[in-house]
Amino acid sequence: MEKMTLEEKVGQMHQIAGNDAVSGPLNPSSNDGEDLRRGLVGSMLNVVGADKTYKYQKIVVEESRLGIPLIFGHDVIHGCKTIFPIPLAESCSWDLDIIKRSARISAIEASAMGLHWTFAPMVDIARDPRWGRIAEGGGEDTYLGSLIAAARVKGFQGDDLNSLDTVAACAKHFAAYGAAEAGRDYNQVDISENNLRNIYLPPFKSALDAGVASFMNAFNTLNGIPATINELLVKSILKDEWKFDGIIVSDYNSIGELIQHGVAADKKECAELAANALCDMDMSGYCYRDHLVELVKEGIVSEVIVDSAVEKILTLKYKLGLFDDPYRYCKPNRESEIILSHTNRQVARECARKSIVLLKNEGTLPLTKSSAIRKIALIGPLANNKFDMLGSWYCAGDENDVVSFYDGLKNRFGSDYEINYCKGCEIDSEVKEDFSEAIGLAEKSDLIFAFVGEAGLMSGEASCRTNILLPGNQLELLKALKQTGKKLIVALSNGRPLEINWIEENADAILETWFLGIEAGNALAEVISGDFNPSAKLTVSFPRNVGQIPIYYNHLNTGRPLYESPNEHYRSRYLDSSVEPLYPFGYGLSYTKFEFSNFSLSKNKIAEIEELVASVDIKNIGEISGEEIVQLYIHDKVATLSRPVRELKAFKKISLQAGETKKVKFSLSDEDFKYYDKNNKWNIEPGIIEIFVGANSQDLLMKEIEITK
Ligand code: NOJ
Repeated sequence: MEKMTLEEKVGQMHQIAGNDAVSGPLNPSSNDGEDLRRGLVGSMLNVVGADKTYKYQKIVVEESRLGIPLIFGHDVIHGCKTIFPIPLAESCSWDLDIIKRSARISAIEASAMGLHWTFAPMVDIARDPRWGRIAEGGGEDTYLGSLIAAARVKGFQGDDLNSLDTVAACAKHFAAYGAAEAGRDYNQVDISENNLRNIYLPPFKSALDAGVASFMNAFNTLNGIPATINELLVKSILKDEWKFDGIIVSDYNSIGELIQHGVAADKKECAELAANALCDMDMSGYCYRDHLVELVKEGIVSEVIVDSAVEKILTLKYKLGLFDDPYRYCKPNRESEIILSHTNRQVARECARKSIVLLKNEGTLPLTKSSAIRKIALIGPLANNKFDMLGSWYCAGDENDVVSFYDGLKNRFGSDYEINYCKGCEIDSEVKEDFSEAIGLAEKSDLIFAFVGEAGLMSGEASCRTNILLPGNQLELLKALKQTGKKLIVALSNGRPLEINWIEENADAILETWFLGIEAGNALAEVISGDFNPSAKLTVSFPRNVGQIPIYYNHLNTGRPLYESPNEHYRSRYLDSSVEPLYPFGYGLSYTKFEFSNFSLSKNKIAEIEELVASVDIKNIGEISGEEIVQLYIHDKVATLSRPVRELKAFKKISLQAGETKKVKFSLSDEDFKYYDKNNKWNIEPGIIEIFVGANSQDLLMKEIEITK
């Protein structure tokens, strides 16, 4: 650093965008080529591929004065070339091992494609299905979200950032971005510090404890102050309390957008505010590039701040081995050997089958050869669709690598059934031209398999919806198909919970497939055939209608909960809708059934720091083997703050043969009963706690314990 001029130091804090992807408004004021040559750029995003990253790295290393290598960042969100299920889907596996492995493979591929840094995991808790970015996170629950955050960080970063097959991770978006008002992207967030600490921050802390190399600021204001310059978030919590010493990167032009937020008059003031708020790198905002040197010279921003940022950026480059060999990640041979390997596809397939949630099944699934079914009609705009299986943020994914549902089912069942396909309608169109062909096909078939949902890009950044119905006339198509009187199985592809009351009432079976990635068809075929017994559970509540939003399982009780007195008028209810979700958090079916019994606690009174063991017997009472996710929730009945009616505190995925019983034990410690109290202190309070175990957040057995002083 001693060799560096102030201009070169500020250059390290400047990140520019390439054009292999567009992930924000392009900044027209750039003079990027010249800046690269002069060593005034520290990082690039949206450049993917060994050859392309090599090209830029060579310019910087060979032509700039000090030859400091670039760090290449990119949105590797659910796979790089091998595209895995979207994160929301993956979270429904509740399988931390497969989640970690999918991040591991994403990192292996990303690092072979010249990338050093992924802008993932997104660990924003999301309770609003209108918000498109719900697709990109781990759902609505803080506890599960925290475990997933750690698993993904460990998967991306491995044991050592210096290994050639790891990338630096980035916990984003700090913080509370998922609470955007009205589910509209970039919108303001106004929540209490207590809510922030109890609900939104723990996944970030968990990412930090797992060693995450960087944090990204969020676009939103938090209680009136843009997150990018929010002192409570960055200085008090991230730096002082949590002692984070890695890089903080802005979101895409979130520094420049301080002007639109109305807290800075011009880009110079943006740079001042962001630098003083300890944002180390300006993503594509050109505020640091154009004004930070001047601000330091004027004494408005201390050079100590610049030095500290540059030290962190260079340290990460050292850790990644870029000073030993700036080209180590951009070797075309390695890239071609590694990406999209058979093993990677196998893991993507495992992840995909584990992500499929069976929402309803009236005995129609799995398909058995012995049934009378011979002819199957695959109908719907997502039946023979490759592109949309990639979901949003599909990185270097290519639709030509996708196994569509049609291909997957044909491969698995082609010799057992006659399988015919008709699209029926587009995803989002009012045209009904093809309805009659679809109905004709349905009439000639024994079973209708309808593939409906959203386009892959209807969720993700800036892709919010005010209604969460099936787009276009897909519901009408389903209704017409139902008229044929044939059995109707519905497979949904979507990046958010949808309003599907009619489907719930009328379909014989419903499978939530989200966007499953390149192995979508093969994974679905495994589930349909029963080769794999579905075990996934929802990590977000499904509302009955958009008016219930936000709806989440860990809400407060209110002073007039409806269940206490359903016939009384003055109760917390809607006149025109149930207050309950259509499907609750934690819900999902299997082809077998499980029974819970003998729920017991090792004690009924514990002192604050004692351990408690909760045990329950779970029996597979069906005819085939299967897996159940046993969930444990608590409810602090009398606390100094009103506490959620349920809070997930533990879970275990148990595999059981038909007829088999296992005892499942959970050890709980005082940490599990703590929360941020009214003084925002992490605290345990004496009193009665209800403990629940069961198969989802509503279907539970309960016991009480007392925590004594
Ligand atoms: C904006 C998004 O909010 C962020 O998540 C992403 O990493 C950046 N753009 C870069 O593409």
